[in-house]
Order: sequence, then C-alpha cells, then structure tokens
Amino acid sequence: MRNVLIIGSTQGTGRELAAAYLRDGANVVVTGREARRAEAVAAELTAETATFTAAASGQPLVGGTGEGPPSVGSVTGLALDLSRPETVAAALAPVEQVDRLVLVGMVRDRNTLAGFDIAAASQLAVTKIVGYTAVIAALAERLTPQAAVLLFGGGAKDYPYPGSTTLTAVNAAVTGMVRTLSVELAPVRVNGIHPGPIRDSPFWQGKEELAGTLAKFQAETLTGELGSMADIVDACLFLLENRLANGIDLPVDGGHA
Ligand SMILES: NC(=O)c1ccc[n+]([C@@H]2O[C@H](COP(=O)([O-])OP(=O)(O)OC[C@H]3O[C@@H](n4cnc5c(N)ncnc54)[C@H](OP(=O)(O)O)[C@@H]3O)[C@@H](O)[C@H]2O)c1
Repeated sequence: MRNVLIIGSTQGTGRELAAAYLRDGANVVVTGREARRAEAVAAELTAETATFTAAASGQPLVGGTGEGPPSVGSVTGLALDLSRPETVAAALAPVEQVDRLVLVGMVRDRNTLAGFDIAAASQLAVTKIVGYTAVIAALAERLTPQAAVLLFGGGAKDYPYPGSTTLTAVNAAVTGMVRTLSVELAPVRVNGIHPGPIRDSPFWQGKEELAGTLAKFQAETLTGELGSMADIVDACLFLLENRLANGIDLPVDGGHA
C-alpha cells in the first residue's frame, strides 16, 4: 500500500489529490499550517471516501486490478509550516516511509513594484524554495527507491502579470529544483507541474473582481477552456505514477500561442 504525503492539502488541488489517493487505497497524510484544520480535513476526507466507496461500482483510479471496488485507504492530518523551514524536520517526525511526496502549499503574493511588500515577497520565496527543499531534505532517507516527488509551480512562470514578480520567480525556481533534485535523489523520480488558472479552486471563488482576469486567461488559452482541479489531479497522477516520468516540468494550461 502506498504512503502518500501531500504538503498543503487542507483545501484546493492538494485536497482533491489526497481524496483521489485515498479512494485508491493509499495511506495519505494531509497537511496544513494548523494541526486542528489538518485533522478536521482528514476526518472530512474519511467520511467523503466512505460515501464514495459505497456508491462505487468498480474501477480504481490508479493502478489496481480493476476487479471489484477499490479498497479505501486511511488518512491522517499533520501540521507543517513551509514558511518556517527550520521547523519542518521536527514536524515530519511522525512520518515513516514515503512513496509519493507532493509539495503544493503556498500563499499567493500579488505584489506590484508600487508599495512592494518585502515581507510578503520574502515569505513566498522562503515557502516555495527553502520550504519545499527542507521537506525533501528531511525525508530523503525515508523515500523508498520507487518513490516519486512532485513540486507545484504555476503558469505565472511563463505568463507574468503586474505584481507576479516573486510568484513568477519562485515558479521558475521549481524548474531548476526539478533538474537538481532529480539528479540528487535518483533513482527517486522528481517532477514539476505548472497549472494555468484552476477555475474551480478556492482562490477564484466568490471574487467578482477577478472575473475579468479569469476571462482574459481563458481568451488567451488555445483550447478556449480553463482547467479544473480534476484536470490537474489527472496530470499529477501521471507524473507521480508513470515509471518513466522523471525530470519533467509540465505545463498543464490548455496551451498558448
Ligand atoms: N489555483 C490556481 O488557479 C493555481 C494556478 C497556478 C498554480 N497553482 C498552484 O497550485 C497549487 C495549489 O493551489 P490551490 O489554489 O489549489 O490551493 P490553495 O487553495 O492555494 O491551498 C493552498 C494549501 O497550502 C496550504 N498552505 C498555505 N501556506 C502554507 C505554508 N506556509 N505551509 C504549509 N502549507 C501551507 C494551505 O493550508 P492551510 O491554510 O491550512 O495552511 C492549503 O491547504 C499551489 O502551489 C498554487 O501555486 C494554482
């Protein structure tokens, strides 16, 4: 049974990926900055998965034999703050072996040069670049030889906008981290994913002021469609489960001219 650890999975795409692995029988650890929230999300996922399994008729989402309904895994919650990398190793003490490690967590930083917020920019840079690396360093000896690591970047890497300087820089750093970590951790596989705007993720919900931004992104996308969390989970599962997927830095955004 696979042990899956998803850093930053109390909501959004990380939570959806946790649900997918749980439905497929994995042991999943979900994390957020607060233990209480992470534990509450673990309990929610357990309840949702029981409902799903009762209704399921057959096919596992990842691997498996295809015979009968998937066996449900287990999920626990853990507190871990990527913006405080010096605390990460202690936070990960309860984690044993890891087969799939996914680094998702971050807080957005819309930070134009006018009134540039140094604290916010520093927090984002530390969270993604140092925090992600600190988690991997702490767990390096606990990654199984067949393990896979997935780092989240984002489309702002290649498609910036006013205020995205730090976000664009840290997402571009993910490209470099995939290169170096896939060498240092071999034979463990390391990949990166760069979603375009994920239309049903929590960030975009209930924000009328961002409707124009989403419409602009959509108009600039070759497919004319924005992705959903399910689309991104599907791409994550490819990068995490395909035995030849290694050192890939994958944009998943519908394409651009
Ligand atoms: N949504 C999009 O349109 C979009 C587009 C491109 C790229 N992305 C990338 O896709 C990933 C998922 O985005 P999302 O919008 O689905 O998720 P999200 O709603 O932004 O959720 C972020 C998760 O990260 C956790 N988190 C935040 N700060 C953290 C920290 N310092 N340490 C540890 N965990 C932390 C949050 O948990 P707590 O609040 O409980 O701590 C939450 O579970 C992100 O890396 C994002 O950059 C998203």
